[in-house]
Amino acid sequence: MISVLENSPTLHWLGRQLFNRDDPAAFFDPLLERINPMWVQQYTPAMVTAIYNETADTKTFVLAPAKRWLGFEAGQHVSIGIDIDGIRRNRTFSLSSSPIRWRTDGTVTLTIKRLPGGLVTNWMHDHLETDTVIGLGDAFGDFRIPSPQEPVLYIAGGSGITPVLSQLETMAASDYRAPVTLLYFVRTQADVIAAEKLHALTGRWSAFTLKVYATSETETPQFLSDQHLDEVPGLAGRRCYLCGPKGLMDLANDLLYRRGISEDRIHSTFFSVPAANLDSGTLGGAVHFERSNLDVSSEGDAVLLEIAEAAKLSPRHGCRMGICHQCSCRKTSGTVVNRLTGKASGPGEETIQLCVSVPSGPVSIDI
Ligand code: FES
Repeated sequence: MISVLENSPTLHWLGRQLFNRDDPAAFFDPLLERINPMWVQQYTPAMVTAIYNETADTKTFVLAPAKRWLGFEAGQHVSIGIDIDGIRRNRTFSLSSSPIRWRTDGTVTLTIKRLPGGLVTNWMHDHLETDTVIGLGDAFGDFRIPSPQEPVLYIAGGSGITPVLSQLETMAASDYRAPVTLLYFVRTQADVIAAEKLHALTGRWSAFTLKVYATSETETPQFLSDQHLDEVPGLAGRRCYLCGPKGLMDLANDLLYRRGISEDRIHSTFFSVPAANLDSGTLGGAVHFERSNLDVSSEGDAVLLEIAEAAKLSPRHGCRMGICHQCSCRKTSGTVVNRLTGKASGPGEETIQLCVSVPSGPVSIDI
């Protein structure tokens, strides 16, 4: 009997899997996933415990991460991983709840708006149910509450309110006494996310002032202007936090800068990659993925992460916006252009971020 087992190819395969793997979790996880998805080791599992509507196109998902999750600071982001039609999709969102809630009941919230054509956001709205387990990455980002306390101005647009909600809840619960003003721009009053929560904060936290502007509900649309900033007392001494669509953030940056507020007192967080103007004539080229022994060609401003995924590779990544550095890897030769800054790399070996690097001629990547 023993000799039969010793000669069994299945047994040999199992032995190799168990003892020769760099990453044992990759072997055990599919099994653990079947027994209890909360035991998976390659990522932190988080169970969806509740889902509720905020507005007609925005939902809040309540998640209970496994105990080993490291937590977060108010205003940070996380990447989540969801299987859609058998393919793992990763996306980054801001956490909308306070870390105090996570420390109290072990749950966090993501507040997510549908996006036209958004594969993951729309799937979450239409198909994600309670008791489903999704993957949760480590929190990252430096959009943080000032410490020590300083007067703060938030300018938020639409679903850009989500990291601000996390910070406001945290400040209110931590006896933040410096004045805090939120200028919140939405299309209509019906688009205000977490309206009840925001109004409740004004009732119980005297340092907080809320101003909501419904840009489509006035005769002349109310975009951010000097008039709005005139209503903020002590503007020059405020630390400013901006979160929303790029147009609003550019306008806010410009107006604040003209009011003499220095760059180091203005903090922004983006929804999408703010692309530089790239010279399309120099972009694209042959890409060699060394470890996978795969050669593909690329055109235009496609970044290496998209090129690798199109070639059925699954490089590690998080935010897809150049923030988290989870997609960093070695370029062994060739030039890439940073899609955010327009800057070209050197031709030799160096670390690059796949999600913002566009090949400019032939490149070799160590994946
Ligand atoms: S995926 Fe976050 S920096 Fe590239």
